[in-house]
Amino acid sequence: METILITGANRGIGLALTEACLNKGYAVLATYRDEGSCGALKALGGDHAELSLMTLSLDDEASILAFAKGLRGRKIDVLINNAGVMGPVNQSLTDMDSAGWLNAFAINTIAPFTLSRLLLDNLSLAERPRIVTVSSQMGSLNRVSKGAFAYRSSKAAVNKVMQVMALELQEQGIIVCPVHPGWVQTDMGGSEAEITSEESAAGILELVEKLQPEHSGRFWTWQGEEHPW
Ligand SMILES: NC(=O)c1ccc[n+]([C@@H]2O[C@H](COP(=O)([O-])OP(=O)(O)OC[C@H]3O[C@@H](n4cnc5c(N)ncnc54)[C@H](OP(=O)(O)O)[C@@H]3O)[C@@H](O)[C@H]2O)c1
Repeated sequence: METILITGANRGIGLALTEACLNKGYAVLATYRDEGSCGALKALGGDHAELSLMTLSLDDEASILAFAKGLRGRKIDVLINNAGVMGPVNQSLTDMDSAGWLNAFAINTIAPFTLSRLLLDNLSLAERPRIVTVSSQMGSLNRVSKGAFAYRSSKAAVNKVMQVMALELQEQGIIVCPVHPGWVQTDMGGSEAEITSEESAAGILELVEKLQPEHSGRFWTWQGEEHPW
């Protein structure tokens, strides 16, 4: 049985991904950070014995280190770096919350790097190890649009991080890709968004299942199409 680790699994795309993976027979290691907001995630465990819940705060390097230590020796087939934040309310040219920008970078850019790096031994135990980072087309340098400086730059940066990581892990056979999940009806995407979290999750999981070494180091959409960087 393959094991999939999903960060930010208590709501939104992460929760839908967790349910989709469990329904397809994967073992899921699902992370959350707050006991008060993981009711829906815990409820999934009622029907699925293969769900393990673990706490992880991605803006705290000590939490990431302790989390990785707790998984020592355990095989992980797929790491899905899903957790992310939009960043501060004020992130415009005229009004920037720089501390909030740094925090968005810590969660959206540095944490996926750190967690991936610390779990390489676990991934190396798998037959077809994959690191999939939920990024955003808002970080694509090819798309020209305004605003959201903190969010866009943190996602552009994590795309670059994953591209470099893919190259460095090529010889070890670890597949690394960022994915754009679509514009999704979650707390982040809002109710006007184009697709449901279930649709996004189903597409991402289909992509995860298809990924082969030749797909590594490329940016994908939830529909399995290549996205321009
Ligand atoms: N929704 C969209 O339209 C859309 C579009 C493009 C990309 N994305 C990306 O998709 C991913 C999931 O987004 P979503 O729409 O599902 O967002 P969401 O509903 O806001 O959920 C975000 C998840 O990330 C977790 N998280 C935030 N900060 C964290 C931290 N410091 N440590 C650990 N976990 C943390 C949250 O946990 P808490 O509940 O504890 O806060 C929550 O589980 C993100 O990377 C986002 O950038 C979303």
